[in-house]
Amino acid sequence: MQALRLIFLGPPGTGKGTQASRLSRRFGLTALSSGDTLRNEIRQQSEVGLSAKAYMDAGKLVPDEVITGVMLLAIARLPAGSGYILDGFPRTVPQAEALELGLEARGAPIHRVVDFVVADQVIVERIASRRVCSNCFATYNTRFFPPAVAGVCDKCGGEVVQRADDREDVIVTRLATYRAQTAPLVEFYERRGLLSTVDAAQDADAVEQELLRVVSALGAKA
Ligand code: AP5
Repeated sequence: MQALRLIFLGPPGTGKGTQASRLSRRFGLTALSSGDTLRNEIRQQSEVGLSAKAYMDAGKLVPDEVITGVMLLAIARLPAGSGYILDGFPRTVPQAEALELGLEARGAPIHRVVDFVVADQVIVERIASRRVCSNCFATYNTRFFPPAVAGVCDKCGGEVVQRADDREDVIVTRLATYRAQTAPLVEFYERRGLLSTVDAAQDADAVEQELLRVVSALGAKA
């Protein structure tokens, strides 16, 4: 099975985007990040982007109907039979229900949901030192994965900056939002027998190895 359909779940800053990028390269999947999709909408000053910005800057979730429409459309636009990783979507039970219905209609349900588990203190440290490319959204870290030239993206030469929602006060709100609105999805997917857990506190290579064990159990080969 090559056309894997995966969801990466977990609090902010646990490394979902970092691993989505690694795994999608290895297996030829498309990484669909809800956060990057919204940041792209903001850059284009679209209606969705303009309505999402205030929620994102405050560390709150954008309304379910907005993100669900955007992400179901992104999935529908993929070539038939494509595999993908949903990074950051769904994030509430209503979003998960809407996704389930949408994928049922396409006859292509999710194969596995991976929950990234890390202590809050590590999350705060990682987010505080995260930097992203303002052009292609590639992710760096001043402590763990700095770009070769400070402030310049290795991939596209864009400017590497701190995200507006990576300030310490906003991180606290994002963690609280996760506990209140997203954590219930762990039980939602556990009940469906779809949940796997990875210890995301390890270094990125070790996390990737754990993920490879999860996907090879699904029959995927790199
Ligand atoms: P989004 O962009 O999805 O943010 P997030 O889920 O909060 O996740 P992050 O991007 O913060 O972290 P990550 O887990 O991808 O970690 P990363 O790989 O970067 O969402 C932003 C906002 O958009 C939300 O707050 C909300 O407003 C809105 N939104 C998005 N989706 C929505 C939805 N479905 N519904 C409603 N609203 C939505 O890693 C973090 C750092 O650690 C990096 O610097 C990285 O280099 C480093 N790192 C990664 N792995 C390791 C490791 N193993 N060891 C050391 N460092 C590591």
